Parts: sequence; structure tokens; C-alpha cells
Amino acid sequence: MPLVTSTEMFKKVYGKCAVGAFNVNNMEIIQGIVDAAKEENAPLILQVSAGARKYARHIYLMKLVEAAVEDTGLPICLHLDHGEDFEICKACVDGGFTSVMIDGSKLPFAENIAVTKKVVEYAHAKGVVVEAELGRLAGIEDAVNVRAKDSSYTDPEQAGEFVHQTGCDSLAIAIGTSHGAYKFKGEAKLDFARLEEITALLPGFPLVLHGASTVLPDFVAKCNQYGGELKGAQGVPEELLRKAGTMGVCKINIDTDLRLAMTASIREYLAVNPADFDPRQYLKPAREAIKNMVKHKISNVLNCSNQI
Ligand code: G3H
Ligand code: 13P
Ligand code: ZN
Repeated sequence: MPLVTSTEMFKKVYGKCAVGAFNVNNMEIIQGIVDAAKEENAPLILQVSAGARKYARHIYLMKLVEAAVEDTGLPICLHLDHGEDFEICKACVDGGFTSVMIDGSKLPFAENIAVTKKVVEYAHAKGVVVEAELGRLAGIEDAVNVRAKDSSYTDPEQAGEFVHQTGCDSLAIAIGTSHGAYKFKGEAKLDFARLEEITALLPGFPLVLHGASTVLPDFVAKCNQYGGELKGAQGVPEELLRKAGTMGVCKINIDTDLRLAMTASIREYLAVNPADFDPRQYLKPAREAIKNMVKHKISNVLNCSNQI
């Protein structure tokens, strides 16, 4: 089976649960994720940020993901995460991705519409689907740190107009999640009333939740036990994500939880085996840690096991 778009995946899960979109940067991360999805018989979106593309290089990620498709036989969608302009979206469409995100969320409404429309026109002509974003999440993405005061929740009326004007295939919304390991200072909550309004105005249309890592305390504790300094880390509680998956959110983005799982494992291995310097010895358990984390997400949080 070749790479697929997310269209059929979203149709299948709409209103029931969400597909996991996991960020990938290297072979071990890709293998850990696809091995988990294979065991869970789950649909899968592998996403590549601009930073990941620069780090690993487009062609290497492309070939690794093609290998994953061949190896597992799973329907896998390869997605550009947070494309900041038309050029990077075009490069990924031309370079074999089946889905791209144009993130015009920092632009004024009309400019966000204009750039999204341009990407939609180009991508659709080549059979590639487009995710757009309206509203602004707080937190850290790549080199951009959006402060809480500069973030803004998605306006439901604007969301309806945006989708109709741009023809985008899915929309990332801001309802209280944020990127990175420090999402909430006090109580963790999402604006479900706003989500309900958006869904009512866009019935059947796939919504996307970014910044959806849970920042599980065990992994933070393990990182800290072996020399890390993650103080006050807090993510989105799992029950809130499960609920969002039944309310029109079809894609849930997870990166930070994979980073924490991998780093906790490597820190522990090297602390316990200080004389070891063979990368395979610490990357093998790290890959297993990614796999276990993704299995947990698929079966207990996203609820998308056997949704192929
Ligand atoms: O939303 C951003 C993702 O966590 C990717 O992070 O840009 O550092 O690769 P990155
Ligand atoms: P987290 O930082 O919560 O994992 O969010 C990842 C994300 O939204 C990638 O686009
Ligand atoms: Zn994101």
C-alpha cells in the first residue's frame, strides 16, 4: 500500500475517536511509532516539522517512511507539521508528502485565508490534503515561543467562514492546549463549549488538536531522577483528550510525550551503564519506550485501535 491521505481516516473516526499524529525525527522514532500502530492495527499520521526536515533531511525521512509503509502494510499519512509559508508546503507536496499544514495562525485573518487558499489550490491539484490553523496556541514550537498573553482561542464564526473560503481539509483550533511540556500553570482545562460551537457550525468537518501531550508525571520524574531539570511540567489530562475525540477532533498531535519517553530512557540507560558507549545499547530501549508510549496513546487515549 502506498502512502495515503488522511481523508478516509478522518471519515472513519469522525465523532468516535481521533487518529494520532506523531512527530518524527529519526529512524528509531519512526520504528517505535509504526511498530506500535501495527500491533494496534491503527491508522497513523507521521508528521515532520520544518526543524525535523532540516535535522534529518527530507529525502532520509521520506525513505524511512516509505520503508515503514512497506514493512508494516499500514495506511500511513505523511504530513508536514506547521508549514510556515507556501514554499515549504510546495516542497513537501512535490517531495511526496500526502498532507501539509499551512500555519497562517500568526497572520491577520485575511492573510491567513489568502495563503491557505494558495496552498490548497496547489496541493489539491496534486492529490494532497491541507490542514490550516485558526486561533493561536501558547507554548514553544521550533524557535517560536508564543507567550500566553499572545495566544487566542479560535472564534467559531470565523472558523466557519475560514473553512468555506479556503477549502482546507481540516482545521487546527485553539481551545486551551499549548505546545511543549508547560501547558498550564494551574488547573488544566479545555474550552469544550467553544469546541461544540465550532463543530455545530462545521458538522462533519475534521478538527485538529495541537499541543496535546499529557506530560505523564512518571516520565518527568524519571528524567529528573537522572539529572534532568523539568520543574512544573504539566500537560493535557487524558480524559480531556478522549472527550475531544468524540466531539469532531479527528487528529491529535503528540510530540513532547515521545521526547520525554525517549529522553527518560536514554538518561536512565546511561546513568545505570556509565561505561557503555555503543549507541545501539541506549537507542534500543529508547525505541521500545517510544513504542510503549504510542501503544498507550492509541489504545487508551485516542481509542483508535482497529480503526483501519
Ligand atoms: O509543534 C511543534 C512540534 O512539537 C515540533 O517541534 O519544531 O521542535 O520539531 P520542532
Ligand atoms: P506537544 O508539544 O503537546 O506534543 O504538541 C505537538 C504538536 O502540536 C505538534 O504540532
Ligand atoms: Zn503543533
